[in-house]
Amino acid sequence: MARCTFSTLTAVLAMVLTFLAVSSDGRQITKAQLHARQVEAAKRFKLGAGDPVKRQTSAGVKNITFSNPRASEFFVDGTSIPEVDFDVGPSWSGLLPISNRTGETRELFFWFFPPGPQGSLDDLIFWTNGGPGCSSLEGLLQENGPFSWSWGTAKPVPNEFSWTNLSSVLWVEQPVGTGFSRGTPDIRNEDDLAAELVGFFQQFLEVFSELKGKNFYLSGESYAGTYVPYIANHIYTHPGEIDLDLKGIWIADPSLSWDVVQEQIPAVNFVHKYENVFAFNQSFLAQLDAQAERCNYANYIAEHVTYPPKGLLPLPGRSTSADRGCDVWDTIFDAALRVNPAFNIYRIFDTFPILWDVLGFPGSFENIQLAPLYFDREDVKRAIHAPIDVSWSECSNVRVFPRGDGSLPSALSVLPSVIEKGERTVIVHGLADFILIAEGTRIVIQK
Ligand SMILES: *[C@@H]1O[C@H](CO)[C@@H](O)[C@H](O)[C@H]1NC(C)=O
Ligand SMILES: *[C@@H]1O[C@H](CO)[C@@H](O)[C@H](O)[C@H]1NC(C)=O
Ligand SMILES: *[C@@H]1O[C@H](CO)[C@@H](O)[C@H](O)[C@H]1NC(C)=O
Ligand SMILES: *[C@@H]1O[C@H](CO)[C@@H](O)[C@H](O)[C@H]1NC(C)=O
Repeated sequence: MARCTFSTLTAVLAMVLTFLAVSSDGRQITKAQLHARQVEAAKRFKLGAGDPVKRQTSAGVKNITFSNPRASEFFVDGTSIPEVDFDVGPSWSGLLPISNRTGETRELFFWFFPPGPQGSLDDLIFWTNGGPGCSSLEGLLQENGPFSWSWGTAKPVPNEFSWTNLSSVLWVEQPVGTGFSRGTPDIRNEDDLAAELVGFFQQFLEVFSELKGKNFYLSGESYAGTYVPYIANHIYTHPGEIDLDLKGIWIADPSLSWDVVQEQIPAVNFVHKYENVFAFNQSFLAQLDAQAERCNYANYIAEHVTYPPKGLLPLPGRSTSADRGCDVWDTIFDAALRVNPAFNIYRIFDTFPILWDVLGFPGSFENIQLAPLYFDREDVKRAIHAPIDVSWSECSNVRVFPRGDGSLPSALSVLPSVIEKGERTVIVHGLADFILIAEGTRIVIQK
């Protein structure tokens, strides 16, 4: 008892001393000095010289003109995008149907940008987000587009790392049911999704026929790890349907296999890798280890992710989902939220405050959204030829596969042949992602 009190006192004393040291140290630097150092660091971080807000990103954009008069209906003036106080250059956006059948009601929303001065007009990249049902405009505005409006920031800025620097990029909200798209979702599986999208590409190339014959790359993230290989497979197995030269695919943090492989097997290893971030107590860690052992997760990677592989990879349990008592992923998620209620499964280092998001999707959280969602603003919709009457949200509330996605995970079906047929397949992974875990993807692509 006495010892306990003494050590507590010592700890408190140590904390007080530390606090004093920090604060007296802290007083030696004024807010202005601190700010000046941050500004210096920010300048070193930026690639280009000068104030990004004043830079004209449209200068030197590759000159592409579309001879079909319909293209002009989709033209977006790069100086008239709400809240964007720099010129993002010419682009084209709007809705196009997925077929030219009379009475076709299904339309997808796209936004096309030509490349910047260092880019090539020979290439065309297609981008899709995942979900299912999440909008590719999230990718455009917060990941790889020419202007970015990231979480917790006041306004958009030019994106120095825009994919449009090097290539034409086509962002499409798909499948039907996603974002601004119109019509009733009716797809049953990934083959239906691919056919629908290829139908859209055909209609797109009728209007923007100057893009026919380009080197074509399909890209996306998360659930697009399912979409993209199936779309590629459709294009390879239906030659002549679209006049584009599919060269390869690029997928990030892709959903490729059963969740038990990409979430459950690697979950406890992931906790150990980031023990200081999760900050679990020892008894809970021991409980997780025992569970991983019991469920055949514990030595899975050491045993099976070897080169060359010993053979087909076994499932850890009785089926393609976690056995009863083996859902360690959810156990970890619940405990992580108890330690850090701001725990974000997409980026485990997040803590309070939870940053607001102009697209209304702050990490893994619901948040109070005082400002309207950017793409749900009427002025934004008008600027980009989006339907005013469609209420936009980042991830759709309607089921885009009304009765679920009937396809097998892509790695167990079409991905191997897509890798064979393509000139290049790129799979990249973020290491702070807990919803799809990098080590799980390593298991998937091991053979
Ligand atoms: C862009 O291309 C069009 C058609 O090829 C041409 O008429 C126009 O002069 C070009 N503009 C510039 C700035 O090069
Ligand atoms: C992308 O293009 C912009 C505008 O031309 C340029 O300022 C920036 O440095 C480029 N980024 C890279 C990574 O080259
Ligand atoms: C309808 O679209 C298909 C596919 O692009 C095309 O082959 C056909 O010529 C189009 N028909 C009409 C009447 O435009
Ligand atoms: C250890 O963590 C677990 C999971 O959060 C919790 O249920 C348990 O109460 C903790 N034990 C102690 C001794 O703090």
